[in-house]
Amino acid sequence: MKICCIGAGYVGGPTMAMIAKQCPDIPVHVVDLNQARIDAWNSDNLPIYEPGLDEVVKEARGRNLTFSTNVDEAIAEADMIFISVNTPTKTFGIGAGRAANLEFIEKCARQIAKVSKGHKIVVEKSTLPVRTAEAVKRILSSSGNGATFDVLSNPEFLAEGTAVEDLLDPDRVLIGGESPESIKALCDVYAHWIDRDRILTTNLWSSELSKLTANAFLAQRVSSINAISALCEATGADVDEVARAIGTDSRIGPKFLKASIGFGGSCFQKDILNLVYLCEHFGLREVAAYWEQVVIMNDHQKQRFSERIVKTLFNTVSDKKIAVWGFAFKKDTNDTRESAAIYVCRDLLRERARLTIYDPQVPEKSIRAELTAACSDMQGQISENDKRLIEQNVTVVSDCYEASKDAHAIAVLTEWDEFKELDFDRIFQAMQQPAFVFDGRNLLDHQKLSKVGFELHAIGKCR
Ligand code: NAI
Repeated sequence: MKICCIGAGYVGGPTMAMIAKQCPDIPVHVVDLNQARIDAWNSDNLPIYEPGLDEVVKEARGRNLTFSTNVDEAIAEADMIFISVNTPTKTFGIGAGRAANLEFIEKCARQIAKVSKGHKIVVEKSTLPVRTAEAVKRILSSSGNGATFDVLSNPEFLAEGTAVEDLLDPDRVLIGGESPESIKALCDVYAHWIDRDRILTTNLWSSELSKLTANAFLAQRVSSINAISALCEATGADVDEVARAIGTDSRIGPKFLKASIGFGGSCFQKDILNLVYLCEHFGLREVAAYWEQVVIMNDHQKQRFSERIVKTLFNTVSDKKIAVWGFAFKKDTNDTRESAAIYVCRDLLRERARLTIYDPQVPEKSIRAELTAACSDMQGQISENDKRLIEQNVTVVSDCYEASKDAHAIAVLTEWDEFKELDFDRIFQAMQQPAFVFDGRNLLDHQKLSKVGFELHAIGKCR
């Protein structure tokens, strides 16, 4: 058995590293078109930050884990090919802003069809609209080399920031397919370290749809508690108390009830919009509207937060310095895709604030690129005004103290643990007075900070 994975991103890299670590008998070859990314996977400076990932990669790389750009060679040699390429929201044409762009999936399928000989198992690891396997099968069947294929769906449920933990000890592995032999071959890979009773098998379409559904349910919980946070702010209820009170109900459960500035990441919004598009495609208008509301609420939450900052700072942030703590979409990752921080920063910039941004893992280049993209239209055009604001009013610094010096306010946008351990007396002394903190993650010790002298504003809490 030889494995190849097309796509060395946040999913392909860690999942294949874990398979290689746990299955020393299986050669695993991860390929990507992006030479810089592959070079980084082959270096001491991995392209993605994930706690524990360095050790996993170091153990397997050079033994049975290879990273390269030799896509054709890797496909030709493999018995099992994982497709783990990006499936972003379409930005053009039919379904723009909603449908998944399957261009990269289709290109992979065509490449596999072109290069393969003999029999191959093709595994959809990317998150895909339900019934994509039908198209993948048709493309594969056009192979002129007499090759035969089985297609499996094996969506990935890891969460960034805890990818290694999640891969080591997943709640479940899901495999959808038609051929019992192919399903067994993939089960045997995972069974190297995961109990068989946690490997669920379904038909192809259930598996494809389960991933979209899982993300929709998770995001829905975030939007539900965030909707309640607005009501808490208006009434004097405390959203953390409400979350604890409802989370102890075993039917509800305590997880994913943390109010915040909103969910981010490359998946939740994209996958819900994709679900909305699918529902519309099948004429299910009310179902589409129901799920779309989860995204609408999330946008509202981000906007509500930046508006609260402006209102609290005496209705103007123009030329005020605001320290932004955190830019990644969550802690323990360097991923900024769809981070709520991007939109809060964009709104504050357009109010002419001066932003001093610090994130422990996100480089300046990524911050500027995300802000530029958020200020651009679908064609990538940005106004001169926005461009100037990003150039002149954004400074990226290397710690929270520097970010907060002379600032009028601090906005906590990512829940990095290190933010809890700072010298708040020192920070307070160095700030403009009154010194405001807007805790977009309800991360800090609010009582302690109030004692120091800060004026605190938190999500779902009245002042
Ligand atoms: P990513 O953008 O980090 O990585 C995708 C990689 O595929 C890129 O490096 C790109 O260069 C490469 N690629 C694209 N077309 C290629 C081709 N034809 N040949 C070779 N390489 C090619 O994306 P990420 O985050 O790893 O996501 C991949 C899929 O997994 C998506 O469908 C996503 O929805 C899904 N997913 C992502 C999760 C996450 O936490 N990021 C979690 C679970 C699923």
